[in-house]
Amino acid sequence: MGEKWVLMKTAQTPTNIAVIKYWGKRDETLILPVNDSISVTLDPAHLCTTTTVAVSPAFQQDRMWLNGKEISLSGGRYQNCLREIRKRAREVEDKERGIKIEKKDWEKLHLHIASYNNFPTAAGLASSAAGFACLVFALAKLMNVSEDESQLSAIARQGSGSACRSLFGGFVKWIMGKEDDGSDSLAVQLVDEKHWEDLFIIIAVVSSRQKETSSTSGMRESVETSSLLQHRAKEVVPKRTIQMEEAIQNRDFASFAKLACADSNQFHAVCLDTLPPIFYMNDTSHRQVLVYICWIISYVEKWNRSEGTPQVAYTFDAGPNAVLIARDRKAAAQLIQRLLFYFPPKSDTDLDSYLLGDKTILKDAGLKGLKDVEALSPPPENGSAQKYPGDVSYFICTRPGKGPILLSNDKLALLDPETGLPK
Ligand code: DP6
Repeated sequence: MGEKWVLMKTAQTPTNIAVIKYWGKRDETLILPVNDSISVTLDPAHLCTTTTVAVSPAFQQDRMWLNGKEISLSGGRYQNCLREIRKRAREVEDKERGIKIEKKDWEKLHLHIASYNNFPTAAGLASSAAGFACLVFALAKLMNVSEDESQLSAIARQGSGSACRSLFGGFVKWIMGKEDDGSDSLAVQLVDEKHWEDLFIIIAVVSSRQKETSSTSGMRESVETSSLLQHRAKEVVPKRTIQMEEAIQNRDFASFAKLACADSNQFHAVCLDTLPPIFYMNDTSHRQVLVYICWIISYVEKWNRSEGTPQVAYTFDAGPNAVLIARDRKAAAQLIQRLLFYFPPKSDTDLDSYLLGDKTILKDAGLKGLKDVEALSPPPENGSAQKYPGDVSYFICTRPGKGPILLSNDKLALLDPETGLPK
């Protein structure tokens, strides 16, 4: 194989937000969790990873570029994913170009990988979930792997636990499994993205800083020291998962919101129960973040009570960014009015760059520009009219979205088809 051909595939994969959280591993290397988890996949039009993978006899070594910068592939998690997917590679033939790769050739051939997130990597929005899912999915297509999405999820899981849930759209469950080899620890789709189309998801991005404690080390410390984590994994999550599945099947927003908020709060209670305590919601160099989080939580609770039935659910991952799920378009429009009233942009930011994603919600809320935001009257259910300009960096409005797709348009590839290097 002395030729110079380059064969490549490009895929796009969504990110996901857990509504029943994964926190704690029973096996660190295989990434096996202590409990099941459930997530909603976010629309890849607003938050996704695009990855191009290429193979060529001319490549000297496996190489990867993330957002244009070369990164090392020597870490165990990348190596595990590459090894597992290579094991499953099959014969590939491109008759038109006269290229044939035998199954055994894959062991000798090297790969080039380029990956790009359409959202800030450090924004704490599960970029590793979309990233590893996209890597595994794109390689499976390039290597003509016959395994289905669930089986691929068990490989993506070895890159980052939450990544296994990004192999599907809609609502997804990561079944913890029982086997020591992890073969039954994989993701399944509960319902697709069309099942509960009413939902709107608004993310308040507060901090774009890397978190002080990574999820990986944070959950290790929780497993070692928190008795609440043991109780949660054994007693709480098994029941809650069944209830959450039921709420999703029945599109029962009241139960969904109750369970999602309770689970987010319990996950952060486990963080506080860890020794030393982990303050994800209280970024130590941003004291006002704690005030903002408590404010969002108590405000949503107050608003839900005043409406008689929940309009919005909140959930926080390992960082201060609030993920707010509104029951329908009307509730989402009311939510964005309230959010923009209390957290308006700084005077030098325009509305277009302050609310990213699905901007149709602004029209529903009657907000064309900053003048309309300034003219908003205080929401009736809250006594205070105090505003906090600049506390939120920006909002993203999105919906439940579809799973990974292969992009057939070569123009969208991140690697040059001649050289296999980043464009
Ligand atoms: C709080 O999947 O990032 O977002 O498996 O160590 O890579 P590793 O951790 P990661 O943890 C995510 C934790 C979470 C909850 C969740 O997504 O379920």
